[in-house]
Amino acid sequence: MTDPRLAVIVLAAGQGTRMKSSRAKVLHPLAGVPLIGHVLATARELAAAHVIVVVRHERDAVSAAVLDLMPEATLVDQDEVPGTGRAVELGLNALPSGFDGDVVVVSGDVPLLDAGTLASLVEAHRRAAASATVLSAMVGDATGYGRIVRDASGAVLRIVEQKDATDDELTILEINSGTYVFAVAALRSELPRLTTGNAQGEKYLTDVIGMLRTAGQLIDAVPAPEAWMVEGVNDRVQLAATAARLNAMIVRGWQLAGVTVQDPATTWIDIRSSLAEDVELLPGTHIAGATSVARGARIGPQTTLVDCEVGENATITRSDATLAVIAAGASVGPFAYLRPGTELGEGGKIGTFVETKNAKIGAGSKVPHLSYLGDVTIGEGTNIGAGGVTANYDDIAKHATVIGSHVHTGVHNVFVAPVTIGDGAKVGAGAVIRKDVPPGALAISVAPQRNVEGWTEKNRAGTASADAASRAITEGTD
Ligand code: UD1
Ligand code: CA
Repeated sequence: MTDPRLAVIVLAAGQGTRMKSSRAKVLHPLAGVPLIGHVLATARELAAAHVIVVVRHERDAVSAAVLDLMPEATLVDQDEVPGTGRAVELGLNALPSGFDGDVVVVSGDVPLLDAGTLASLVEAHRRAAASATVLSAMVGDATGYGRIVRDASGAVLRIVEQKDATDDELTILEINSGTYVFAVAALRSELPRLTTGNAQGEKYLTDVIGMLRTAGQLIDAVPAPEAWMVEGVNDRVQLAATAARLNAMIVRGWQLAGVTVQDPATTWIDIRSSLAEDVELLPGTHIAGATSVARGARIGPQTTLVDCEVGENATITRSDATLAVIAAGASVGPFAYLRPGTELGEGGKIGTFVETKNAKIGAGSKVPHLSYLGDVTIGEGTNIGAGGVTANYDDIAKHATVIGSHVHTGVHNVFVAPVTIGDGAKVGAGAVIRKDVPPGALAISVAPQRNVEGWTEKNRAGTASADAASRAITEGTD
């Protein structure tokens, strides 16, 4: 049930300068979801009545991603006045004027904070009937963060930013996580009074804490259970560290759910993927996007699956697949490349050095070696000989190849689409199939072999080949 007295403002307007990227910071992926997607998922779990996202930098791309991930969110554009305080001030305008509850402020670049921790913060804030409650954290190295300044009695005085801090304040190891709960009235009264008179020339949201204290309001800071929960992603070093931590948690979760992961350090599982009991993941495997893997399947080593569906007991070895469906008991690889629209039937095989695209391969059918199959439909129990290639593209359009059930194609066949090969047909080695083959027919297209005797001795006299040929011929005639 949504909480009508709760609103969340997500700050996502900043430039993300330290990422040095043409892509907005909050759109960099983490476990297969943009950074801000993790924050929005937490906001959704919190069940607030209003979720407001403040955008500015790369606003079109960020807005599109936000609405895709959370259509019910309200977008607000920040103006040219910089700072987290200005962002929240504008975000407030999107709330109904009658709203008199609490406003949770979170950063779009703090992805590991969970809804449980946030809900506890809201609870602590409400229990104390505070004006503002800051989520803080105790860290070993506070570099870059705002510091929580407390008085001798331990009560919070204010927050000071790294760039504005005195040498004494810089030694404080309790940092501001950038996550807060405010009574909306406190924000409405203090935000318009913020100034840009600080080292960064920004309206700091953090200044509101000190202003509330001066006004005699009740404020507090509550440390997060673990510092990593509130670590922000400001550069690519932090992005990689955060990704590794999240991945370790995801891998551990699946291990406890019955998945064998041989090498957690080199196994990456995106947050939207799902794995059944007794799935086995070998080293160097990436289960990406919305992939699902059924019971008993073995994936890897060195395999990437993006948005794939893998059936029970299937095996995929040293391969790369995107938007492919691999049915139960089927096998893929080593060294196969499955592109979108590949559907491999039960017990089927896509083997070594095979590329497929938009290829429906029926149950028990096999494409064991060195083939390219694009825009093809294959029935059941068919075997494609080594080096089978669909010529599916004539420079203008893609054409379909249809191969029936229980067909045996030869080694090194070319299927010049559009073309159909009937059930039970057979194709000779090296044939180029340009015309339909009726069911049960044998298709051969190669001209009869002709041997030109003595060609090498005559045309390549003096070479090692000619010498070898002449020795063999002499020995043969002895
Ligand atoms: C901020 C806090 C700091 C805290 C740290 C925690 C302020 C002044 N400082 O610093 O005390 O320790 O977070 O991670 O708040 N943003 C906007 N509009 C802006 C500027 C920023 O929406 O004009 C957004 C950013 O997109 C980001 C968040 O606010 O999601 C934080 O901004 P950032 O510049 O990363 O602040 P920090 O310097 O990390
Ligand atoms: Ca930050």
